[in-house]
Amino acid sequence: MNIVVLISGRGTNLEAILKAIKEGKINARVSLVISDKKDSSGLKIAESYGIPTKFIDPSFFASRKGYDIYLAARIKKENPDLVVLAGFMRILSDEFIEQFENKLINIHPSLIPSFQGLKAQKQALDYGSKFSGCTVHYVTKELDNGPIIVQAVVPILPDDTEETLSNRILEYEHRIYPQAIKWISENRVKIEGRKTFVENAKYGTIPVNPDLEDF
Ligand code: GAR
Repeated sequence: MNIVVLISGRGTNLEAILKAIKEGKINARVSLVISDKKDSSGLKIAESYGIPTKFIDPSFFASRKGYDIYLAARIKKENPDLVVLAGFMRILSDEFIEQFENKLINIHPSLIPSFQGLKAQKQALDYGSKFSGCTVHYVTKELDNGPIIVQAVVPILPDDTEETLSNRILEYEHRIYPQAIKWISENRVKIEGRKTFVENAKYGTIPVNPDLEDF
């Protein structure tokens, strides 16, 4: 399976994916990492794994559409089986998304459809949720939405800050993203309408927060 990864920043999810591939846990290769930010540390991470990188500068393009046409053409040159958004913080145009239907996945630091958009961890904290988490999903035209492949739930604790909660969620992002990509590479993720099912996966753990004492 050939993968193109799109990033904007730190690249810790990218690194988790590259590490899993390097360790032989996922049978795939990343042929290109693209960033819309010149100084993303994720580009350095890609280089340290020997992966070609490309910075595509949004300021060269007069419109989002123009950027996305160029971006799509560059991705297609790689003939990827999967395009992975790993902290790519640009909204993609409908025309872009249409071209990669069922081949484009994203990770979001909340249990979607809760807390879509920016600062999802802070949104969950401010709302007073008792749980949040992260979601890997196929990308559709709705922002941070689309068929869910896998979610991880983490508790929100009384003394959490945005940072402590983000770190707790990130630990699981680094586990569920490589896992989702592995399932896709094994052709085990079946999309049915807006739902997906993972063949031969175990389902069904129930979290409660605060812990129940009497029932
Ligand atoms: C991650 O927390 C990811 O879930 C989030 O950006 C961060 C990127 O971190 N993505 C979104 O909020 C998408 N809406 P990373 O660059 O270290 O992987």
